[in-house]
Formats: sequence, C-alpha cells, structure tokens
Amino acid sequence: MKRFLVLAVTLSILLTSFTVAFAQRVDVGIVLPTRDEPRWLQDMARFQDVIAATPYSVEVLFSQGSSAIERTNVETLIAKGADVIIICAHDAAAAAIAVESAKAEGITVISYDRLITDTDALDYYVTFDSVSVGAAMGEYLAANATGKGNPLYLYAGALTDNNAFLFFQGAWNVLQPLIADGTFVIKNSAQAQNHQDTLELSREQLAAIIGEVTTDWDFNVAKSKAEAHLTVAEAADKGEVFVLAPNDGTARSIADVFAADAHVTNYFITGQDAEKASVQYIIDGQQSMTVFKDTRTLAADAMNMAIEVLQGKTPATDAVYNNLVMDVPAKQTPVVIVTQDNVRDVLIDSGYYDASEFTGL
Ligand code: BGC
Repeated sequence: MKRFLVLAVTLSILLTSFTVAFAQRVDVGIVLPTRDEPRWLQDMARFQDVIAATPYSVEVLFSQGSSAIERTNVETLIAKGADVIIICAHDAAAAAIAVESAKAEGITVISYDRLITDTDALDYYVTFDSVSVGAAMGEYLAANATGKGNPLYLYAGALTDNNAFLFFQGAWNVLQPLIADGTFVIKNSAQAQNHQDTLELSREQLAAIIGEVTTDWDFNVAKSKAEAHLTVAEAADKGEVFVLAPNDGTARSIADVFAADAHVTNYFITGQDAEKASVQYIIDGQQSMTVFKDTRTLAADAMNMAIEVLQGKTPATDAVYNNLVMDVPAKQTPVVIVTQDNVRDVLIDSGYYDASEFTGL
C-alpha cells in the first residue's frame, strides 16, 4: 500500500511537471518596449488578432522601458523553448546582449520596428519605412511654408532608438535645402544650426542634434523642452511657426505649449502613429498631421515571417538595413500622411478605428 502511494505521488508529480512544461512551451516570443505608450498597445492589439488565427503558441512580454527587464523577458522566452523571438528593443545597443543569448540557442531573432544595433545576432528586421516617415513630416512643413524666414523648431526621438536617427534624417533631407535658402530659420537648436549647410549628416552629427533636441519619447521631457525654448525665444521668433515633432505623444504636449504662447499666432506641427488622442487633435485642429503606420500590417508581417521560419521556409525580404555591424535583411512597409482632409478615408473607412471613438468627424 505504502509503495503504491509513493508510486502514485511520484507519477502525479511527473505528470504535473510535464503539464507545466507543456503549458509553458512557446513557439514564438514577442517582446515589446512598454505598455505605457499607446503606440505599443496598438501593436499588442494587432498581434492578438494574428495570434488568435495561428495554431502556434505565442507569448507577448513588455519591458516597461527597462533593458534589464527586456533581458529577463528574452531569457524567459529562451527557457520556454521559443524558436523565434520578435523583439522591439527599448534601447537599440543594450538589446544586443539579450539577442545574442537567444541566437546562441539557435533561436531566429526578428527585430521589430526598432533596429537593434551593434550586433550580428539578428536574422530579420520588420519595419516601416522610417526615413520616409521623417520625409513626410518635412514635406508637410515645407508645403505649408511661404516666403522666407519661417521660424522652425526641431524636436527628435530618443538617442537610444535607431529610428530617431532615421526619422530625423528623413525630415532633414527635405528641410535642409529650405533652411539653406532661408525659407526656414532654426530657432531652438545650436547644433542643427552648426550643421545647417550639410545635407548628408554623419551619425555623429545626427547624434549631436538629436541629443540637443531629444524628447526621449517622453511627453514631459517634450513639454519642458518646448517651454524652455519658448521662454528664451523673442516675440519675433514666434508668429506663425513650424514644428517638427517626432511622434504623436510628444506632438500633443509640444502643441499644447505652443498653443498657450501669446506670441504664437499659428503653428504647423507634425506627428506619427495615428494615436487616437492625436486623431482627435487633428480633427480639432490642434495637431496638423500624423504619419499613419498601419500596425495591422507590421504585426502580420512579423508573425508571418515567424511562421515561415517555424515551417522551415526562408521569409521574403525587400530591403536591407545596416545596424553598424551587419546588413540585416528587412521587410519594409510604406506609410501614409494623415491630415483633416483624409482622416476619415484612411483611419475610419479602412476599419482601423471606429467613427464613434471621435467627436466632430
Ligand atoms: C516608433 C514610433 C514611436 C516611438 C516612441 C519609435 O521607435 O517607431 O512609432 O512613436 O518609437 O515609442
């Protein structure tokens, strides 16, 4: 009887650990930078749609703006036997260590939206055309400027995000010739003024400018920077102003600061992501444009790529991005400019958002 009990207990322990191991097994692991920005919640929702339709097991983890948590997330997914990891890094260079440990286990690593730099441990990159995001912003500002001497205020993303370089470069490609011919006059960046005759900025030159006008992708940093800039600017540096804001979250806080300044008579301000709050700002005339990056496409592309890898196929790519160490094969998605004129067509009629989520459409 005693022996039987021991056997039964041993069997049940074995069965439980087998069930746990089985339940925990993950085919595809996804690591996103933070739950605290609407952009990544949009991606999460789109991933949930594609996950629901796949027979593979998928787990999504958030790194909450911490490279340490990000590393733990990757270790967790390695421990759960993931064959593919899709990762959007919090910090491009710091994530190298995490993906190197995945690669050492034979896992296929897909960099998602943000390119991980300083490592050869990447297999693929799934991204929007980020240079064209910046170019779209620059073109919008250019199209609305008439005459010479238009005040230009420049803001950028986080220095730790490779995308911040691509966005700024894309905008600079359009704006620099117009700064050189006097259409625009930079009002808030000595570094950008230093390089205003240079079209092709080196990474170091870009880093110097971005470092000076960075928002760190943080609403509060953006707000206090804009306040500081408008405090030192003369009334003559205001009037109708042009503002390169790097994304929607920062655009809303910078726009609020410009709107509250008595000497700013009108402002044009850019953004990206088509966040709901910014779509409402655009409808209400508080933000001028956003660059719509359809996260349905990006999430589906990344998952399809992962599934092809699981099936032993080689995913198709259509671009190459250099991450300072290697050329990473990439799948790239185009972007769409959204203003008051096409907001309904692009975001409502396409089913991305529901009209009931907005007022005054
Ligand atoms: C993304 C943007 C986002 C920003 C801040 C960038 O890497 O491409 O869509 O707004 O990070 O999270």
